[in-house]
Amino acid sequence: MKSRIRFSFFLNLLVAGMVSSGVCASQPPVRIEIDATAPTRAISSDLVGAFFEDLNYAADGGLYAELIQNRSFEYSATERTEWGPLSFWELVKSGGGEGHLRVGEVRPLHVNNPHYAIMVVTDPGEQGVGLANSGFGGVAVQAGKAYRASFWSYQLFQNRQWGPDSDPGDQATLVSLELRSHSGEVLASQHFEVHGRKWTQYSTELIPSASDEQAQLVLSVHAAGGLAVDMVSLFPRDTFRGHENGLRRDLAEHLAAMQPRFVRFPGGCLVHGQSIHTFYDWKKTVGPIEQRQSQRNLWGYHQTNGLGYHEYFQFCEDLDAIPLPVVAAGVCCQHGGDSPHRGQEGLPMEAMPAYIQDILDLIEWANGPADSEWGAVRAAAGRTEPWGLKYLGVGNEDAITPAFEERFRMIHEVLKERHPEIVVVGTVGPFASGEDYDNGWRFANELDLAMVDEHYYVPPQWFWDNLHRYDAYDRSKAKVYVGEYAAHEPDRRNTLRSALAEAAGLIGFERNGDVVKFASYAPLLARRGHTQWTPDLVYFTQTDIVSTPNYFVQKLFGNHAGDQLLACNLHHEKVDGRLAVSAVQDSRSGDWILKIVNGDDQPRALSISLSGLEMRVPVTGHCVVLTGPSLDAVNDDAEVPVVFPRESPIAISQNFAYEAPAHALSVIRWNARSN
Ligand code: AHR
Repeated sequence: MKSRIRFSFFLNLLVAGMVSSGVCASQPPVRIEIDATAPTRAISSDLVGAFFEDLNYAADGGLYAELIQNRSFEYSATERTEWGPLSFWELVKSGGGEGHLRVGEVRPLHVNNPHYAIMVVTDPGEQGVGLANSGFGGVAVQAGKAYRASFWSYQLFQNRQWGPDSDPGDQATLVSLELRSHSGEVLASQHFEVHGRKWTQYSTELIPSASDEQAQLVLSVHAAGGLAVDMVSLFPRDTFRGHENGLRRDLAEHLAAMQPRFVRFPGGCLVHGQSIHTFYDWKKTVGPIEQRQSQRNLWGYHQTNGLGYHEYFQFCEDLDAIPLPVVAAGVCCQHGGDSPHRGQEGLPMEAMPAYIQDILDLIEWANGPADSEWGAVRAAAGRTEPWGLKYLGVGNEDAITPAFEERFRMIHEVLKERHPEIVVVGTVGPFASGEDYDNGWRFANELDLAMVDEHYYVPPQWFWDNLHRYDAYDRSKAKVYVGEYAAHEPDRRNTLRSALAEAAGLIGFERNGDVVKFASYAPLLARRGHTQWTPDLVYFTQTDIVSTPNYFVQKLFGNHAGDQLLACNLHHEKVDGRLAVSAVQDSRSGDWILKIVNGDDQPRALSISLSGLEMRVPVTGHCVVLTGPSLDAVNDDAEVPVVFPRESPIAISQNFAYEAPAHALSVIRWNARSN
């Protein structure tokens, strides 16, 4: 795998070299003057973050490292008509074993987890009767790595027919957990003795002897009788930062590499749902995982809530990112609703106090002392220290109607009074302009909101046409969080063209970083074969991760953030075509960072002068160039990316020339203190 990547790297280097030096810049140089003496403007150093929504199997089957699908037998036909509690499980009978499988619901493990499996074994044969799960398209295991395997169980009866008076007797039931390869070879196994009528958790570590991307976990019963089984789970021990019930390490590290300064969660439309009965309920997502209530995910699949608020906040802390949870504004999505004509609906007024209390409880859960009612729930999960919640999104691109305004105002007033320390992030509708945008801003100004959330999914050219969108924003009004944005090609592919358009958009955000505080591309993650929305930032399978060109743009802006905007003038009679430039300083390192997006098919000659900066000798900086063979280039193959960044040294002097390669983002960085 590695040698393929290396070969493709050099191949691409060759292609890129030909692109940037083989074609002459056809236009006169554009003069860029960065003036160190001109006043700088403080900008947000938290500009680039991540927006995580459980969409496209981003959580279960994605970032959440659980390898078993339908671990608690709660899949339901209300999610997909073909699904039920036994979906993704199969009964394995070999070596003369006989038995069958039923769904139990009489004595559940917890009221929030009402179904379980009943394995009835009439003859265990030589190998027992097994219950097998292949995860999300194959359980991928690696030789020599440890996997935490567990299940909950109790004995229903032994060696006799199941009846109301069934009695498990005195003997334990022998049960095995095995990791089996796709061809049936046992890669790891462990035995347990299940005894008694009380739900008990059994756990172990399995270390497979060989790697397999299509393995199965098989729980086998080796005695005649009946056994109740629930919460069959398999996690790699090696999760991101080693947390139990943790996150898939490779995916989480991939996101961490972007250095997101904040994470918005859990949605998106997932937050306000299709009806007032299906708002995302954070309380269902905390506490022991076997007691969490799973539910139908808005995007048409099953959501275990195993990745819940504790895990989201932990992820933020591990990333050193600001947590930005979002709650519904008391209304459901304008495309949902229970009425036949559909449309936004608001919670009945009598339900609002309880709903607002849930929001106050969330703040207490996040920030309250460990002996407060909800702080104690946090502490019981092992987190005594507060999480330090500072921002709370209220609403998600809702239509700005009287129903919305009335409910938002109620929530806002209570938060302002009880938690003035929390920054409420409002919403200004789903589009970059139009009725909801105008009304959203009018309403935000009326309430004197500190920040609002703008969304836009637009064609690539829109970003170029709107490079100066925020130049004219009123600095005395709410700050902007561009909570969801992406450049959409007609075929919804992640082309280099779309990535560069977003880079140009980010230049505009950065140049107005005193107004645009946060920005997050959307959506973030998508499991191949399970997408409900494209394009996305990162695609993955159980083993591979594809970095889109768009991901590299986010990463470059995340890795090269500044906190001071430098005066940067572009001089040319007519800077036509697609060129966007920003210059910032990172005051902690003293680095100057120049970002240049050339969205055209020709290289662009630039003459860069640094005035007012004492530079005795030229210094060596770094130049990272993100480009590919054409604007249509995409990264379809995890191992052979076509568009990716490459770094080289660059000599920086008070006047230096740079040829911005065609269709490329260039990031030039040097330390201004070393002079
Ligand atoms: O990012 C995908 C969806 O786009 C979000 O859930 C919603 O807020 C927007 O419409």
